[in-house]
Amino acid sequence: MRVASGVPGFDELVDGGLLADRLYVVSGPPGSGKTTFSSMFITQGAKEGENCLYVTMHETKSELREDMAGFEFGFDRAIQSNAVQFLNLVTEPGKRAISQFGKEGGLTNRLVAYIESNGVDRVVIDSTMLLQHFFSDVDDEITGFLSALKQTDATIILISEMTDPSAYSDEHYLAHGVIFFHNFLESGGMQRGIQVIKMRGTAIDCDIRELEFTNGGLHVHTDRKVQT
Ligand SMILES: Nc1ncnc2c1ncn2[C@@H]1O[C@H](COP(=O)(O)OP(=O)(O)OP(=O)(O)O)[C@@H](O)[C@H]1O
Ligand SMILES: [Mg+2]
Repeated sequence: MRVASGVPGFDELVDGGLLADRLYVVSGPPGSGKTTFSSMFITQGAKEGENCLYVTMHETKSELREDMAGFEFGFDRAIQSNAVQFLNLVTEPGKRAISQFGKEGGLTNRLVAYIESNGVDRVVIDSTMLLQHFFSDVDDEITGFLSALKQTDATIILISEMTDPSAYSDEHYLAHGVIFFHNFLESGGMQRGIQVIKMRGTAIDCDIRELEFTNGGLHVHTDRKVQT
């Protein structure tokens, strides 16, 4: 089954949409659109009546709402609805919500239990940096974290910061799919691009395509290849 990303143009790059119940890693430099893409993905889920979960640690719900307030893709309505649960794992309410799912086994088991017992369909984890709070050795434990999330019946986007576009990390190998955002500094400003690096089971367009921020959020220009 294909899941609509909610980002105009994007689904054309991946043969009609993301394969359901899989785990995707979204990587890119600061300000390249990772959170906006993920917010559009969650909003699409809410519009389709799915159960959605947004997990973060660097933003409160109101900060995220403010960041997305400049766009008109319906994020505010979605995040304020019952369809979307927002968990900030460093705030007390977030910690309480997740700690109901066992004191044992740490973040991985609790998050999986949360997803399973709430029947969550779409998840965003913004971002892998939050794992540093929970794991003593992220490099060691991220494999188990991703493997456990891959077993759930949810379609998951895991945001992973990355500044060097050639520096792949474990999560890129473990994920079912990898999407890169690019910022190219040019004389006239910044050229934004999006690229599907891999998507198991899917014929992909892996060229870098132009990405634009519009009032409606991100827009992928599938007919415009970024010349690098
Ligand atoms: N209408 C708009 N409303 C809000 N942000 C906009 C708008 N148009 C363009 N932007 C830009 O979008 C960028 C934010 O994108 P986003 O938060 O999705 O990036 P990110 O990859 O998650 O960044 P980070 O790594 O810092 O979390 C900002 O730099 C902002 O200037
Ligand atoms: Mg972000």
